[in-house]
Amino acid sequence: MSTNLQKLLNLKLPIIQAPMANVSNPKFTSMASNFGILGSHGCGLLQPEQLEKDIMELKSLTSKPFNINLQLPRPNLQAEKVKRLSEVEVTELLTEIRKELKLTAPKEIRAKPNFFEQLKMIEKNPPKVFSYCFGRIEKDAVKRLKDKGILVVGTATNLQEALDLEEDGVDAIVLQGSEAGGHRSTYISDYKSGLIGISTLVPLVYSRIKSIPLIAAGGITNGNQVRALLSLGAQLCQIGTLFIPTLESSISLTWKENVLRKSPDGNKNTVITSTLTGAPCRVLENKLVRFLATWEERGVPRNMAALISDVLRNGGHEFGISMMGQGSENDAAKAVLRTSALQLLDAGAVVRRLSSYGNEEQLPYRMKRHQTVHSTGRYVSILFDSSPKVMKELHKTLGFDERVIRRSVVNVADTLKKSSELHVTRYNLIQ
Ligand SMILES: Cc1cc2nc3c(=O)[nH]c(=O)nc-3n(C[C@H](O)[C@H](O)[C@H](O)COP(=O)(O)O)c2cc1C
Repeated sequence: MSTNLQKLLNLKLPIIQAPMANVSNPKFTSMASNFGILGSHGCGLLQPEQLEKDIMELKSLTSKPFNINLQLPRPNLQAEKVKRLSEVEVTELLTEIRKELKLTAPKEIRAKPNFFEQLKMIEKNPPKVFSYCFGRIEKDAVKRLKDKGILVVGTATNLQEALDLEEDGVDAIVLQGSEAGGHRSTYISDYKSGLIGISTLVPLVYSRIKSIPLIAAGGITNGNQVRALLSLGAQLCQIGTLFIPTLESSISLTWKENVLRKSPDGNKNTVITSTLTGAPCRVLENKLVRFLATWEERGVPRNMAALISDVLRNGGHEFGISMMGQGSENDAAKAVLRTSALQLLDAGAVVRRLSSYGNEEQLPYRMKRHQTVHSTGRYVSILFDSSPKVMKELHKTLGFDERVIRRSVVNVADTLKKSSELHVTRYNLIQ
């Protein structure tokens, strides 16, 4: 199924690799674009100078279209209702956790970049696509960007926001379903007004907006979902979480592992909380999220993320931050993540790139030197050299025993086999 927007952007597949601040980087984004989907770079947290450098680097890495994404200053929806905790109170309340993690509160609180300065850089170095979240930009700015040949894309989480963006003159709208990982983009009222599942949101908006293309985002992890959403009215699908554990993503190994692993009690849950960053955000529920839960009603400072950046970055699986969508909760998430990745990237590349998961999960990537992947159309075969010499080397570098290594190799093969789109015709362990 090929759509107008797909044709306009000359994409091999109707897929956008979602903008994700802190996750994407020029290499990551250009890899996606060079493959033939729309690569996006989440630049919301970059200072204007860095943003300019990254656009230049992207232009040197790909001649294909890419998307630069910014975050508008967040709307202060909670402001009148609650008196937020002060910075001092937050620091005091976190003393015990910092002691346990052997961390000291950050001395310098990094200031957020200025959106309008960032926007100037985009106008100076126009990308093919510019997308933004958390609100509306002036009609004049939309027009100015469009006049420079940029395709302007806003983000909506409910019908009213989509109608507003249409009125502003944007070229396309990302519809962020409630399943999506990361911050909620809702700006017109409480974030709960924008908690609509993507298979409801797409037809709801499509029934009113036909003049501009819609892009579906949230919880998408396989080709069947993509096809379904296109049939409901979307022209492209934007996928974020699926790409987090890839080799090219900039995020920590802990975060990558969290996307894929189950918690020790076998449950895995993502929740929307404002307590980690000061704004509603879908993250993996871990000890820190549970600890901070009672702060939700009290309200945390707007600069919460910067205030507790040491904990969020270095808190490990249970105290760090791991934004991700509900797609990662799926019981078959590992298989789904990998098999759908197969539909995004060529079969050979998936084993090299998208198997680069942490710990056991990272084994396939570490082992890539020892495996050969052949793919012809939908047929894949993998050959893995499990000779004693290789096993010994892997054991030494990875610290896992042979059983785990073998299981991991088998996992990759099983995952490939489960895919409805591809046939694994041969899989050998060389003894
Ligand atoms: C870690 C993370 C960071 C994100 N950062 C941004 C961002 O900077 N700008 C933006 O518009 N959307 C951002 N998003 C939302 C994604 O662009 C996308 O809409 C979402 O990931 C789709 O849902 P999925 O994660 O279930 O695939 C982020 C999502 C995640 C998971």
